[in-house]
Amino acid sequence: MNYGYFDNEKREYVITTPTTPVKWINYIGGLDFGGFIDQNGGALLCKGDPALNRITKYIPQLPASQFNGTSLYIRLKQEDGYQLISPLFTPGLDPYESYECRVGLGYSQYISVIDGIKTDMLVFVPTEGQREIRDIRVTNLRNHAVELSLIPLVEYSHFEAIKQFNNADWVPQTMQSERLVDRQGISIIKQYAFMRKGRQENYFTANREMDSFETDREKFLGQHGFGTFQKPLSLEGDHLSNYEALRGNNIMAAIYDFGLIQPQGGAHLITQLGQTDFDVHSSQDQAQVIKHQELIEKFRDLAYVEASFEPLIKKWHDYCDQFHVETPDEDFNTLVNIFNPRQCMITKNWSRFLSLYQLGLGARGIGFRDTSQDLMGAMIIAPHETKEIMIKLLSTQRRDGSAMHQFFPLTMEATCGDSAEMEDRPDYYGDDHLWIVQTVCKYLKETGDMAFLREDVPFYEKDKEGKPLEVKPVLEHLLRSLEFTKKNKGAHGLPLLGFADWNDTVNLPTGSESIFNANLYGKSLQEMIQLMEQLENVDRAHELQADYETMKEAVQKSCWDGHWFVRYFDHKGNPLGSNENSEGKIFTNAQSWTIMSGFAEADQAHEALASVHERLATEHGIKLSSPGYNGFDPEKGGVSTYPPGAKENGGIFLHANPWVIIAETMMGNGDRAYSYHRRINPVTKNESAESFEVEPYVFPQNILGNEHSQFGLGRNSWLSGTASWMYQAATEYIMGVRADYDGLIIDPCVPGEWKTFKVTKRIKGDIYHIHFDNQQGLSKGVQSIEMDGQSISTTIVPYQLDGQEHHINVIMGC
Ligand code: NOJ
Repeated sequence: MNYGYFDNEKREYVITTPTTPVKWINYIGGLDFGGFIDQNGGALLCKGDPALNRITKYIPQLPASQFNGTSLYIRLKQEDGYQLISPLFTPGLDPYESYECRVGLGYSQYISVIDGIKTDMLVFVPTEGQREIRDIRVTNLRNHAVELSLIPLVEYSHFEAIKQFNNADWVPQTMQSERLVDRQGISIIKQYAFMRKGRQENYFTANREMDSFETDREKFLGQHGFGTFQKPLSLEGDHLSNYEALRGNNIMAAIYDFGLIQPQGGAHLITQLGQTDFDVHSSQDQAQVIKHQELIEKFRDLAYVEASFEPLIKKWHDYCDQFHVETPDEDFNTLVNIFNPRQCMITKNWSRFLSLYQLGLGARGIGFRDTSQDLMGAMIIAPHETKEIMIKLLSTQRRDGSAMHQFFPLTMEATCGDSAEMEDRPDYYGDDHLWIVQTVCKYLKETGDMAFLREDVPFYEKDKEGKPLEVKPVLEHLLRSLEFTKKNKGAHGLPLLGFADWNDTVNLPTGSESIFNANLYGKSLQEMIQLMEQLENVDRAHELQADYETMKEAVQKSCWDGHWFVRYFDHKGNPLGSNENSEGKIFTNAQSWTIMSGFAEADQAHEALASVHERLATEHGIKLSSPGYNGFDPEKGGVSTYPPGAKENGGIFLHANPWVIIAETMMGNGDRAYSYHRRINPVTKNESAESFEVEPYVFPQNILGNEHSQFGLGRNSWLSGTASWMYQAATEYIMGVRADYDGLIIDPCVPGEWKTFKVTKRIKGDIYHIHFDNQQGLSKGVQSIEMDGQSISTTIVPYQLDGQEHHINVIMGC
């Protein structure tokens, strides 16, 4: 069963049933202003930080049928009283004749027909102007005239999101609302916490004057709040009370009357919801006050609103066009051309900050490890948009080369994450600092901006005045990353685990070692050796090569278990991920990454991948480990808090799947790489949405594994490193087109059945159209390459840097 379909021409997914198994969301705006919006029009909005500056109150744990954050009613006059309709399905739950939520790139559009009333509402945050716009058009499809009003609804949160939930006296004492009638004679309903009065105020207004409004939730619902959002008692009367809340649970509900609407006639309302960021009383801010009013007026004008929608569409379409594929698999094309690049940009913008699952209450900020990886996907799309975040990440690196686990962009305060929680364990993650090495190198390859390496960036430590203790060029930051791991090895000469490595749920006692960290270090060393060669620093390249060989030797000496590589050694030197363990015998990452680092010999690589195929691969994707730990074990930590088959404990943890895909392509196994890709391609899950449950247009973080009786059920959609790595796996390893320092590498690894396929990549101002001819039905191997009619003798096509389009023909062969 499906809940909708893909409309690739419009680059939208169309939800046709409002009652999806869990809420299906979309993102509008960015962290500077925006949030997510669900298929019923409920939105969680913030400005700059969902924990410290939240605007709407959206509680994901509420029943899906409830009002959450924002909504809209339509009220129709009847002989006796009113009929109330919820065109977004919730909270009225009226029977609908048709329902569509078009999940677009940066917008959602809702088109419903309920009891002969058609509503078409477009919701977006324009690229300029920082506000949520709702362009609402209602048509009377009945065969008689109706007297109609539109009633938008917003519920506000205290700006400090967590305080909203842990203080039910102070918070409501501070929340206030006020009506202001502006120079166009139109009401603006302001809402603020008292200490922000006149400075940071939420505001709601529309393109026409309201009849009346309500700002107190209890008054709106009626009976001291015992009324319901499904049928608020206040809407049974002709007008709302015009109460300007002095405290309490603040909402904004307003009645906009449109009078008598003839059959086929319509009503049109444009609303705006935003937040000011100036001081109305400061003489210095007066220009901003004027600009604010002018912008409000502009966004009341339909032509201006329509024009402001265009750059948003253009921006997203440009992102998608950076890498375009044509293959025989339409589901692959849909994912790689639209939804995967889109998810990459969302993870770049939001890290793990705010989703239906990451609640943005302050526990998670911008993760060092997560964002470093997210940026790698975004670099294929918009490399220049990643530089600012890289600098922020580097400025949370410590002087010893290790990194703080996460930071909060509004304050630039960084924390050690969960690693601070257990006193007897290290307060750093053994992998965080290493990720940035690959990220920066990828940025250099995509942009050629080698000067970036010389830019000064502070380390995190500061003196009492907040001045950084040390500032060094980017290159030095990268070298210190390597240095930290080199200096922090354990009994087998492998890097220490720290509190955890990439798998942040395995928290072994101090002194434990991680093979993952060894491989990540190896991969980072490879990148740095190549960079040093590029910079003609031969001595440093040699030194790093020696470090690489030392680590390879350590891995070879102790990590091969006979048919696969082990995953950890605990503080006593016992292996985890070994055939000798009864639970957690084999871990995926120990296999994929030992190949990606180049530490595995070819026969080991083939055997390790065969073990993954035999023991970990399922029809719904590759499990992270097997078998799962069955019972809580404080010595292992978080992994044992889940039942077997869930999340990191033997679940299908999607983020780790593309690493196997990449490893398979490195070993030339195109059929298997493609098959693994298809198993987790969400587009292929559209018809099984009933059991998959989450959105078929994004990767979730996890799918329950086959040790769990709900095998195949997805959770934690949107904000996952899966997006970046699946995009890299598909574009750079299956299609095999990736940026190097001096040119494009052409090295596809595809299923043998793909006889022809195409890639268009835009890079450094040029467009390369690459046509692949695979008549022999191979998986890997390039026989010849021609660019613009000239034969190229290597598999690296030099950048042309002439702003032109270039045509490349590749013939696959041995
Ligand atoms: C989710 C976290 O965001 C990510 O950093 C981590 O690598 C995975 N969980 C695996 O534990």
